[in-house]
Amino acid sequence: MLKIWITGSNGQIGTALNELIEPLDIEILNTDKDEIDIADTNEVIRFGEINRPDVIINCAAITDIKECANDKDQAFRVNALGPRNLCIVARKIGAKVVQISTDDIFDGTNDQPYNEFDHPNPKTVYGCSKKAGEDYVKEFTHKHFIIRSNWVYGKNGNNFVNELLNCKEKIFDVSSNQLGSPTSAKDLARAILYLISTSEYGTYHITCKGVCSRYEFAQAIKEKTGSLIELNDICSSTDEMIRPAYAVLDNFILRLVNEYEMPDWKESLDEYLKEIKEG
Ligand SMILES: NC(=O)c1ccc[n+]([C@@H]2O[C@H](COP(=O)([O-])OP(=O)(O)OC[C@H]3O[C@@H](n4cnc5c(N)ncnc54)[C@H](OP(=O)(O)O)[C@@H]3O)[C@@H](O)[C@H]2O)c1
Repeated sequence: MLKIWITGSNGQIGTALNELIEPLDIEILNTDKDEIDIADTNEVIRFGEINRPDVIINCAAITDIKECANDKDQAFRVNALGPRNLCIVARKIGAKVVQISTDDIFDGTNDQPYNEFDHPNPKTVYGCSKKAGEDYVKEFTHKHFIIRSNWVYGKNGNNFVNELLNCKEKIFDVSSNQLGSPTSAKDLARAILYLISTSEYGTYHITCKGVCSRYEFAQAIKEKTGSLIELNDICSSTDEMIRPAYAVLDNFILRLVNEYEMPDWKESLDEYLKEIKEG
């Protein structure tokens, strides 16, 4: 039976993976930071050597951009040395590694979707630490999938959809000049499970199809849920933006190598909203 170790298992992507894997004939080893701190080299190696998973999916990270800026050392410990540690043990036991990364490794100044061969140029501590994590993964193991996504939302998450739906104010500030492709954690998890069944290693951009602004994303959530919240277009300037203004990724290699299609972001949003409504 296939054995998968999911780190950061309580997060949005970890939760989505668990929901999809549960009915399958797969053994899951779930750890979050209370069980295994991925920045602790000895702990990671010991756990990996004892449990010998076939695949390690690293969903653990410090994803809060401000938290990373306030504590650069900890951001690099978790987002860079963490994946390095997982790759050290993966190599010893022959496991495949999935490292989840982000559009924040780009500077967001493009006017066309970034593909896997575009040059990274992170502007934030978060982006730099995630880029360093990617570099370590490439250095320490060949059997890897580096998966960059963006605007991910799922259960158990501090994400845009949940933030809007839980907002207690009458007005919600949102920018119309930040562009991306909203991607549900569940659709991302489906693509991850597909990829690990292959040996098509390398770097992938995986987001839902279609592009929208944050404002259009908010409008779609409002329309689909009947929320009465008022949207206020704040049209942020580049200085104010802490995330890339143009966060659009082209799923180039996924199309080329696997002919795997992601759903449109609106379909994906429908599925998510239906699931949270049903509880
Ligand atoms: N969310 C997005 O829009 C997005 C977009 C692109 C890529 N990604 C990437 O996707 C991955 C997963 O994202 P997500 O949205 O699922 O994040 P998430 O919901 O914040 O989950 C991350 C999990 O990692 C845990 N964690 C933090 N430090 C740890 C440590 N030292 N050891 C072990 N676990 C630790 C967190 O615990 P605490 O919550 O208790 O700290 C949390 O449960 C990350 O690598 C992220 O960079 C996310």
